[in-house]
Formats: sequence, structure tokens, C-alpha cells
Amino acid sequence: MKVLSVVGARPNFMKVAPLHRAFSRQLNVVSKIVHTGQHYDERMSDIFFNQLELPEPDYYLGVGSGSHAVVTAKIMIAFEEIVLKEQPDLVLVVGDVNSTLACALVAKKLNIKLAHVEAGLRSGDREMPEELNRIVTDSISDLLFVTEHSGMVHLAREGVDPDKIFFVGNVMIDSLCDYREKAERLRLVESLGLEHNKFVLMTMHRPSNVDAADKIAVILDLIEGLCEKMPVVFSMHPRTAKNIRHFGFEERLNNISDLKILPPQGYIEFLSLMKNSRIIVTDSGGIQEESTFLKIPCLTIRSTTERPITITMGTNVLIPKLDAKLILSHFNKRIEEVALPTGTPPLWDGKTAQRITDIICSKSLLKAKSNGASKLNIDA
Ligand code: UD1
Ligand code: UDP
Repeated sequence: MKVLSVVGARPNFMKVAPLHRAFSRQLNVVSKIVHTGQHYDERMSDIFFNQLELPEPDYYLGVGSGSHAVVTAKIMIAFEEIVLKEQPDLVLVVGDVNSTLACALVAKKLNIKLAHVEAGLRSGDREMPEELNRIVTDSISDLLFVTEHSGMVHLAREGVDPDKIFFVGNVMIDSLCDYREKAERLRLVESLGLEHNKFVLMTMHRPSNVDAADKIAVILDLIEGLCEKMPVVFSMHPRTAKNIRHFGFEERLNNISDLKILPPQGYIEFLSLMKNSRIIVTDSGGIQEESTFLKIPCLTIRSTTERPITITMGTNVLIPKLDAKLILSHFNKRIEEVALPTGTPPLWDGKTAQRITDIICSKSLLKAKSNGASKLNIDA
């Protein structure tokens, strides 16, 4: 069986790495990786290949940045050629970025079986580009692998055939388990002159939070307020860095004492920062899950989440408005709380990639086609 797995943007690499490893352990699976190039900076792409021990991608489409339509269309055109050439039995996509949607569409239009890892998540907010990507991808997938109970409920409500849906846990947590010890051995916190559990870790990249000057101004108010309480480490996404420059906030930012602005961090470095932080302030999807697993309090600056288990079982609190005063009051409350939830969401146990691989292999009764080729028969 030949599986083509797609990566494109930062949150894809840590999901595909354990899957590629699990596929590669199967004698009957040929696992190939296609990188769309949606993210392309060394620190948004290559660093993850090295750290997560992924081989060089078999194909690099090099699409780069652009509007949603341009990026999606460019990926579709380039990916179609690869699928036609490779004739895979299965295309596997993860998450909810534009690369996910584009490759899912191409696969299904060529009648290739499609697996979606991280299926069923819904924020309910269709203004988020990711929500459209999730809905469309799930609606055409043949195998839907779900991370948390809410995903099962959404897919059932949307009428997806239950035989296609598998509750397998969270493959992102597989990577976290795989690299946790390496992160523990890093002395990054010390080298930044910080103390363990005595700093705020921050990331911010949603267009709704960083694409307007007044929003960036609030983020700066927030950082100034946080820095009065404890040092802040800000790992800055290129979208955010670009907007800070564009709106002319660089000087004000550089003048905040007790703020460490870092370029996008490698996976191991970021894991080390998360593990050692007192609290995380973010608008990331994946970081809500990782902080829940690590039991680090997390304030998510968004009005919705597609990952509600991080609130009901985890350490996450949603703050619906980008308002510095509001966020600071949540921050004060949160760091005074002594008791944090102690549970771990079901099947977030580091074994999800193997579960997915086992399901795919058990479904892959390779059926001879009349032309002599073989085809993944997931209807069996
Ligand atoms: C994308 C995903 C988002 C995900 C995020 C993870 C979509 C619709 N969005 O958002 O769901 O949370 O990745 O990080 O797929 N840029 C660089 N270098 C890079 C990549 C991007 O400079 O390597 C800059 C470019 O100016 C680009 C901007 O960042 O225009 C945004 O990149 P894009 O991939 O469009 O969206 P993200 O905000 O990264
Ligand atoms: N991450 C990283 N370096 C950073 C920031 C995040 O390695 O500087 C990792 C983080 O640990 C998680 C993933 O990137 O595994 C989340 O990606 P991101 O926040 O870019 O996207 P989202 O999850 O919001 O789609």
C-alpha cells in the first residue's frame, strides 16, 4: 500500500512525523511525504524535519505565501501532478490548514481514498478559514480519525457514516511524548536568563488578533501589563512580526523591559519553553492541547475553540476579547489558582499513530484491479 502524507504549515510536521514512523515500520506500507511549501522559512519548516527526524520530503511543491485562493489553487495544481504520477492507495491529510483542504480536494477528485487526521473538530465560527477547511475535508474523507469526544458528536450530527469514524486520540501528543526528554535536557531557560516556572510564554498569530493596527496596540498593552508581573517570552510568528513592522510598533516593543522576543522556535526548544513556563498566553490551536497535556495553565485569546476538551478536562481558559485589562484580570486569577485539573484526555497517550496505522492496514485489503494495479479497499 502506498500512502502519500501531506505537510504544509508548522502544525502539520509534529502530526505527520509519528505517522510516517509508524507507517515505515509496516512492511506492506510505502510512506511518502509531500511538502506543499505553505510554510517555507527555515524556522517554520526545515527545523522541524531535522528535529522530528522526518526524512527529506519526497516532493516539495514550493507554493509559498499568497491569498487563500492563490495558495489553495497552486497547491491543487502541483499536487494533482504528484498524485497522477504516484497513484497512491491513500492520501493522508492532517489538521485544518489550506494545504489540508487543497490536497483533500485533489485526492477525492482523482478518486483516491482520503484519510483525515484530527477530524470532527469544530469551532462553530465559519469566519475562521480553518473551520471551512475542516468542514469540507471531513465531508469528503473516507477515514476520519478523531482526537476528542466532541469530534465524534460533530461528525455524527453531520451525518458521516459511523463506519468511517475512529476515535484514536491525539497524534500531536505522540510527538510530545517522543521528544519530551530531549526538551528536558535543553538548558534554554537558563540561557535566556530566566527561572523555571517564573515566566509567561506567549504566541499570537491569528489574523483576527494580529492583522490590524489597533489589535497589535492591545497586544503591546497586554505585554507591558504582563511584564509588570513576570518576564514574558514571545515566540513570534512571521505573520505577527510582519504586521508589527508594517504598523510601526517595533520601537515600542523593543523598549519593553523583561520581554524576550524570539524568532519562531524549533519544536524541542518550544516544548522546553512550554514545560518550564508558569502560564501560556496564546491563540494557537495545538498549544491549547499541548498545555493541557503538560498541565500548564493556558489563556487562549479567542472567542471559540474547536478543542473543548482542553477546557472541560484541561488547563485552558478562553478569553473572548482581545482586551488587555480583561486578559490581565484572568491572568491574575489563574496564577493564584493552586489546584489545576489533573486528568489527561482519553487516548492522548503517545500511541495514536500506531492506532491509526493499524486501522489503515486492517482496512487495506489490497484488491486487485482489472489493470493489475491495486487499490485500497476501505469498504471491506
Ligand atoms: C497558517 C494556517 C493556520 C495555522 C498557522 C500555523 C491557513 C489558512 N492558516 O496560518 O491555520 O494556525 O499557519 O502557524 O492555512 N510567512 C513567512 N514565512 C513562512 C510562512 C509564512 O514569512 O514560512 C508569512 C507570510 O508573510 C505569509 C504570512 O506569514 O503571508 C501568513 O502565512 P499563511 O501560511 O498564509 O498563514 P498563517 O498565518 O501562517
Ligand atoms: N510551535 C513551535 N515553535 C513555536 C511555536 C509553536 O514548535 O515557536 C509548535 C507548538 O508546540 C505546536 C505547533 O507548533 O506543536 C502549533 O503550531 P501553530 O501554533 O503555528 O499552529 P496552530 O496549532 O494554531 O494551527
